[in-house]
Amino acid sequence: MQKMLISTPIYYVNDAPHLGHAYTTFIADMLKKHHSLRAKEVFFLTGTDEHGQKIALSANKHGLSPLEYATKISQVFRDEWDFLKIDYDHFVRTTDKAHEQAVQHAFDFMLQKGDIYKGIYEGDYCVSCESFATNSTICPDCNRPTTKVAEESYFFRLSAYQDKLLDFYEKHPNAILPLSRRNEVVSFIKQGLYDLSITRTSFSWGIALPKHLNEPRHVVYVWLDALLNYVSSLGYGTDNAKMGHFNHALHIVGKDILRFHAIYWVAFLMSLELPLFKQLCVHGWWTIEGVKMSKSIGNVLNAKDLASIYGIEALRYFLLREAPLGQDGDFSAQALVRRFNADLSNTLGNLIQRLFGLLKPFGGKLESTHTLEFYAPLYAEWQAQLESLEPYLCDLQLHRYLEELWRVFEACNATIAKEQPWALAKTNPQKAMALLSLIATFLAKSAFYLYPVLPESTAKLAKWLHVSLTSENFKAFMQKDFLLPALELAPIEALYPKLDEAQATPQESPKDPPKEDHTIQFEDFTKLDIQVGTIIKAERVAKSDKLLCLKIDFGGRVRQILSGIAKHYTPESLEGKQVCALVNLPPRKMLGLVSEGMVLSASDAGGLKLITPFSTAENGAKIG
Ligand code: ME8
Ligand code: MG
Repeated sequence: MQKMLISTPIYYVNDAPHLGHAYTTFIADMLKKHHSLRAKEVFFLTGTDEHGQKIALSANKHGLSPLEYATKISQVFRDEWDFLKIDYDHFVRTTDKAHEQAVQHAFDFMLQKGDIYKGIYEGDYCVSCESFATNSTICPDCNRPTTKVAEESYFFRLSAYQDKLLDFYEKHPNAILPLSRRNEVVSFIKQGLYDLSITRTSFSWGIALPKHLNEPRHVVYVWLDALLNYVSSLGYGTDNAKMGHFNHALHIVGKDILRFHAIYWVAFLMSLELPLFKQLCVHGWWTIEGVKMSKSIGNVLNAKDLASIYGIEALRYFLLREAPLGQDGDFSAQALVRRFNADLSNTLGNLIQRLFGLLKPFGGKLESTHTLEFYAPLYAEWQAQLESLEPYLCDLQLHRYLEELWRVFEACNATIAKEQPWALAKTNPQKAMALLSLIATFLAKSAFYLYPVLPESTAKLAKWLHVSLTSENFKAFMQKDFLLPALELAPIEALYPKLDEAQATPQESPKDPPKEDHTIQFEDFTKLDIQVGTIIKAERVAKSDKLLCLKIDFGGRVRQILSGIAKHYTPESLEGKQVCALVNLPPRKMLGLVSEGMVLSASDAGGLKLITPFSTAENGAKIG
């Protein structure tokens, strides 16, 4: 079996994981599942990048030692991937002993080869990017101010690799995808490469140089340390046990770290006389409703929170389908709900539901004796469509891959509408069965293409169709004359129940993960205008099983407030009751209705309880 490495970047532990990290990791997980079904032996690697000045500063801010802090946040990343059901094979930490040994081994190798020499680094440094900026008080990558450094340093002869790098990219035009990123790298290299400072002396949180050098003040530059994770995890510098996987390495990274991988990493690999990666896949950034995710703006979304609301697969499908991989994508809950409902509930879910429903008059018994007699041309058409998918995936046009796969489902739905098998069942049952068998067969074939994107629901679908999703079966099922054998299909549950549009309203979108310090200032509290009011009218809201529309009298000022309490109170039980509500929120629209505040309630295991004054209070009385 061909061995392969699929990697994500190792993420910095200065902060908790967010949507962007989950995106990269979903892509890697999808590719692992895809290549495994193509009989490759995939090693899927992820982990955390724990050394360097940035981490040391963050740890200090939290009153922890760098290692304590890194251990804590590294665990948060693991918990996140467990929650999102990411099937990685190894989680590397750059504080692992084996990794440290590998880095020292590599350092020695390059030194002995003459690729490392000692000098003085004088220039500017960006702590946030952990990168050297030549003569620039502002970091060209993140626009933050740089700091002046002048320290003794070991250097890597990057300049000596300029031509070799250009030669590599000329001979391997597909080494970086998308191609525009390759061109960007090539023109950067052509401007000339400087030697790279690869040790630091102004702080100590990093890997020590090999002992025999007797340089206790130096630690290895964090990017040399970090990039080596891709081979240290395979046993480089220790037992080399899994280095076979590096002969076919696929690195997935965001555009922010293109240069580090496309230039430094390739040069390091050349110096170490190791094989070069097969492909570097560079994806764009996710923005939130048009704005770049950033802690200072306070719009950072966490994938675990989103998955808890919408489901892991809804999030995974949205991220992989919505934006072309190389470009930036914009996240909004509304767009996610819309896409889920259109593609998964209406198109695919509906198709599956119809197939099983239409089989009921036949006692659930499927058989394929006459399928090709009636539907050979459609079979050939859909087969060709499925066979056309692979190149999109190889080019990492994941959105196109899914779009083209969905054409098969759309064609199935359209054929059902046209042929009306429910009517045929009475006039020409053989033809009706032929159509159902055709559709069941193509759902079974499609399951192999769907599984990498929607693993859990596809596993269910496959089970209902008695298909086991193995690489051997993939070959057998994709034969040009394959038909499902006679089967008895049991009734099924809805696979993709519609998401509620009201769920996607801002009120219920996730908040920042809880901060450890919950105290607020007294002035913050006084900003809240909470009042007592009497409900004068309560009605259900059309198209929502959660919302009630309340008219509440706050002493002369009647406000309309929408509240998600329909599952807990009937409208009749509320009229005439007093409640407490926060009334100085900006008005907002839900399902076409304006809501001018928020009714207070308490939730516990027993359900939801509205908060009401102990004895009757004047409407409009302020709570403080
Ligand atoms: O750069 N949209 O770690 P990091 C999409 N430790 N992807 C995003 C994103 C966004 N808004 N924000 C982050 C580092 N990412 C180094 C890597 S590798 C040897 C060392 C993803 O925690 C994307 O994959 O800053 C990006 O490249 C990565 O997180 C950066 O993670
Ligand atoms: Mg970063």
